[in-house]
Amino acid sequence: MPDFKLDFAAFASVQRGILVVFCDEHAKFGVQTRKILGSAAALVERAVASERFKGKLGSTLDLIAPAGLRASRLVVIGCGKPRDLEDKDYLRLGGVAMGKVSSSASDVVVVVAETPDGAMKPEAAAEVGFGARLRAYKFDRYKTKKKDDESRGGAVKVTLAVANAANARKAWSLRSGTADGVIFARDLVNEPANILYPEEFAKRATSLRKLGVAVEVLDVADMKKLGMGALLGVGQGSRRDSRLVVMRWNGGKRGDKPVAFIGKGVCFDTGGISIKPAASMEDMKGDMAGAACVVGLMQSLAARKAKVNAIGAIGIVENMPDGNAQRPGDIVTSMSGQTIEIINTDAEGRLVLCDVLHYIGERFSPKFMIDLATLTGAIIVALGQEYAGMFSNDDKLSDRLTKAGLATGERVWRMPLGPEYDKMIDSKFADMKNTGGRYGGSITAAQFLHRFVGKTPWAHLDIAGTAMGSPQTDTNRSWSSGWGVRLLDQLVADHYED
Ligand code: BES
Ligand code: MN
Ligand code: ZN
Repeated sequence: MPDFKLDFAAFASVQRGILVVFCDEHAKFGVQTRKILGSAAALVERAVASERFKGKLGSTLDLIAPAGLRASRLVVIGCGKPRDLEDKDYLRLGGVAMGKVSSSASDVVVVVAETPDGAMKPEAAAEVGFGARLRAYKFDRYKTKKKDDESRGGAVKVTLAVANAANARKAWSLRSGTADGVIFARDLVNEPANILYPEEFAKRATSLRKLGVAVEVLDVADMKKLGMGALLGVGQGSRRDSRLVVMRWNGGKRGDKPVAFIGKGVCFDTGGISIKPAASMEDMKGDMAGAACVVGLMQSLAARKAKVNAIGAIGIVENMPDGNAQRPGDIVTSMSGQTIEIINTDAEGRLVLCDVLHYIGERFSPKFMIDLATLTGAIIVALGQEYAGMFSNDDKLSDRLTKAGLATGERVWRMPLGPEYDKMIDSKFADMKNTGGRYGGSITAAQFLHRFVGKTPWAHLDIAGTAMGSPQTDTNRSWSSGWGVRLLDQLVADHYED
């Protein structure tokens, strides 16, 4: 899927192709942009003014082959107030630019990385490139007939015109691994479950070894030995065996406690014996988005050689209703020793996560654990698709996540925990049951996980609404979003690298 190529060149070298330029709310261009527009500059400014184009952030204006300009097409993109632009805005501008040119016949696109305030800093230009790359992503590997605009030979070549190409290239080299991570996560979530079953998922995660990540794959026998009765109970109804993958990136100081990320990897969730209705069940191929995010994050950390010790752990299973499937009423023993009465086999994610959380907590004593899971439909009812639900036993960690969310645009909203909710999962027959009744479904799911984290600072992100069936945005046109990779990469970069 090489549908995108990015390079950097100096302003002065801009020659031909489709030209993308930025203007502010007064339809003003930067000095370099005016130079590139040459004798067409005045004409373009008049055209922009007569279109009553307000230059609002993300708005666009198309001009076909303006007289006096070598470019075949000119795209003007508003950047609002240049002084207010943040990283996530540059990312968005890159996405907007790509959206305007991706279906074009010409294969050369030049984006002039300048606002009326001056040339973009290398990091900002890299962010524009990042956004363009995310927008260019499409998952079409199973389409045997490509559309016309895709038969041009694949790649759209985007050149970012910048003040200093070497500096911009260096900034991009620090960012491109995170883009790769987001795209890796999107690919995994988009893959159908007949292709991506637990063993295959584990195999794809082992590809991180080439970046220096240590990857261990535990099979069913290994997990039996560890006593992971909760996770294995979910997987036992499937012909496909479960896996647990532990990834370690040691970029920090020797002996420094790691940070840990844990993902729900249900490759397909039929609901099991408590089977789901047919409508939209196909979406449950994405029930491993938490695990996909963790893999994408590990890729990002390793690619940019993050100065942190990080663990990524994913429980990978398939929830199916065959003759060996677990039943409502069954009681399983988790690795922690706590027993669980299965009320609803469709509340399987927490059963997978509880054993992984306990295992990682015990084995690594991490600084914190953050788990990601498409855990409940209830979180979509509560928050829609704009925020992920966040539950945490630690104010510092949750504040940091909230801030990283605002910075990246992958936002989280903190939800409550408390003893009254915890009581709702007490069981008549075992230590707890796996559902808490009709009310507060996302909260009781989080209370369940809380019982397995001990004293470790922990946050649970319920990403059922944000990871798949995603709203179409300037930086994502795919069913899966790769949600969380940028958020957690930012969290690590801001607070956990020495
Ligand atoms: N994977 C689902 C949650 C889900 C639903 C994710 C829709 C994305 C979109 C989860 O395993 C599940 O089935 N949860 C149940 C819990 C219930 C049985 C307590 C739910 O949300 O209905
Ligand atoms: Mn389920
Ligand atoms: Zn599920």
